[in-house]
Amino acid sequence: MTLPTSVPTQGAKDTRAPLLEVRNLKVGITGRNKEVVRGLDLTVGHGEVVALVGESGSGKSVTALALSQLLPPGLEITEGSVRMGGRELVGTSEKDLTGIRGRDLSMLFQQPQTMLDPTSRVHVQVAEPLASKGSGRATFARVVDLLRGVGIPDPEARARAFSHELSGGMAQRVMMAAAMAGEPRLLIADEPTTALDVTVQAQILRLLRDEQRKRDLSILLITHDLSIVSAFSDRVCVMYAGRIVEEGPTPQIMKHPAHPYTRALIRCSLLEPEANGALPSIPGSSSRALSILEGCRFAPRCHVMAAAPDLESACCATEPALESKGQGWRTRCHATDAQTHGDAA
Ligand SMILES: Nc1ncnc2c1ncn2[C@@H]1O[C@H](COP(=O)(O)OP(=O)(O)OP(=O)(O)O)[C@@H](O)[C@H]1O
Ligand code: SF4
Ligand SMILES: [Mg+2]
Repeated sequence: MTLPTSVPTQGAKDTRAPLLEVRNLKVGITGRNKEVVRGLDLTVGHGEVVALVGESGSGKSVTALALSQLLPPGLEITEGSVRMGGRELVGTSEKDLTGIRGRDLSMLFQQPQTMLDPTSRVHVQVAEPLASKGSGRATFARVVDLLRGVGIPDPEARARAFSHELSGGMAQRVMMAAAMAGEPRLLIADEPTTALDVTVQAQILRLLRDEQRKRDLSILLITHDLSIVSAFSDRVCVMYAGRIVEEGPTPQIMKHPAHPYTRALIRCSLLEPEANGALPSIPGSSSRALSILEGCRFAPRCHVMAAAPDLESACCATEPALESKGQGWRTRCHATDAQTHGDAA
């Protein structure tokens, strides 16, 4: 896929407090003593693009829903804080949240067609977050502007269409127009391009980048695609079994990952055959990891621990803390740099 070339999206160092501050967020399955997000700390600065990556089931979508206070029945925030522009969202009434969503915080999800109401016309749905809701000409004109802004041809006709008449790429643009309508400060985008073909993916990413630069928009981008992470994000957070295991500036993490899991993810994404000709994969499965209660949850799959038996007792007994390696880079691993980057890896 051809992506826009990577250009740092941040200029001079921003001294403001982060726009989004998540502290010790825990999400559990209601009625069961099981956490799917376990003490997550995360920040997104003003105008910053932070990528959240990890294997399927690591807790990325649950995190996105928890941040938006949109968890489905069966999941609940059991502890922690989500502050947006200094305002606490956990425990805020649904009435107040309705005002915050769309205006301060917007969401974009993977399956646009499932998010749009097939029985309602496009302009009604895009107008939803606009303060001046209604059927007035001004609102319709604003919707047409928004649709034009996301590259929809013949926006007046599309505005009058029903969403089931749209292609997948067109529906995702409509969702983007709706997400941008309230001029939010933060966009949480969960795999926004995964369901689209590669050319439409690149168009949607360009649109996102344009919006981000035009309006100093902050974005939390959830994706499996590390080429998108490299091209698009300022910072990356790597999630495994409900925890951040490594985070830092994107170029740093992509070029010099420290955590064995991050290294394995990057190696798999390169799809370069191993010496025996097989494509790289991370041995074992992540599905058991949530039920590991002691030690490092990656231990059963960790090639670094497997190659350094002296690590085993520490790895299996104590979960490592997320420790700073300087300049915003933090990693959660008992191995030293020499062990992680040595021949064993
Ligand atoms: N409604 C729910 N009730 C109970 N458990 C759930 C629910 N939704 C998700 N989970 C569990 O939470 C964990 C994290 O799921 P989540 O959907 O956040 O993964 P993900 O990282 O987004 O994966 P993917 O990359 O496949 O989208 C999984 O173990 C999943 O089974
Ligand atoms: S703490 Fe141990 S098991 Fe976990 S990633 Fe580091 S070396 Fe591997
Ligand atoms: Mg998901």
